[in-house]
Amino acid sequence: MSKTLTAQAHPSEFNNTNLEPLFSAEQIQARVAEIGREIARDYAGRDPLLIGVLKGACIFISDLLRATDLRLGVEFIAISSYGAAMRTSGEVRIVKDLDVAIEGRDIIVVEDIIDTGLTLSYLLANLHARGASSVKLVALLDKHERREREVPIDYVGFQIPDSFVVGYGLDYAERYRNLPYIAVVKDPNA
Ligand code: IMP
Ligand code: MG
Repeated sequence: MSKTLTAQAHPSEFNNTNLEPLFSAEQIQARVAEIGREIARDYAGRDPLLIGVLKGACIFISDLLRATDLRLGVEFIAISSYGAAMRTSGEVRIVKDLDVAIEGRDIIVVEDIIDTGLTLSYLLANLHARGASSVKLVALLDKHERREREVPIDYVGFQIPDSFVVGYGLDYAERYRNLPYIAVVKDPNA
């Protein structure tokens, strides 16, 4: 069998023609390194707890941890928004909670993208209510045009326009989280 036929039988996911690259792996790494340095500088001498929001932030937090030269802890939380119709109510649900108490801790929430802001405004209030001494937010992507609820983003990777993006942890119907770069999905129905 020729190479061409083999390639047709197993098309590349990473070079999928329905994807328009937005940020390369190199651009992402450079920005994550800068954010890590900023956090290490801002939290020098403290012992913050980074809380990754599953699943979207899994790759971002993995890289950010290694870019942050600081004594720190890591936890994960998983949140689900209710169905589309209920999203506007801002009603969200914790589907996997933290394993530890956070009273008196300096918390840094690590999120993939802030869109309407509903999820994070709920989560930040929830973490404050548990007695955290500070709660800051780092988001890789900020889709500001879509904001419905104001959310203070303390560290942001990139501002993006109102289009649906995937890769580097972000999914479209659970697909594309494994892309090493971030891309816009050209045709969501393809
Ligand atoms: P928000 O509550 O509207 O801010 O929702 C944020 C969540 O929606 C993110 O954590 C993502 O899981 C998801 N989301 C929003 N926009 C996108 C996108 O462009 N691509 C992939 N997921 C997205
Ligand atoms: Mg998410």
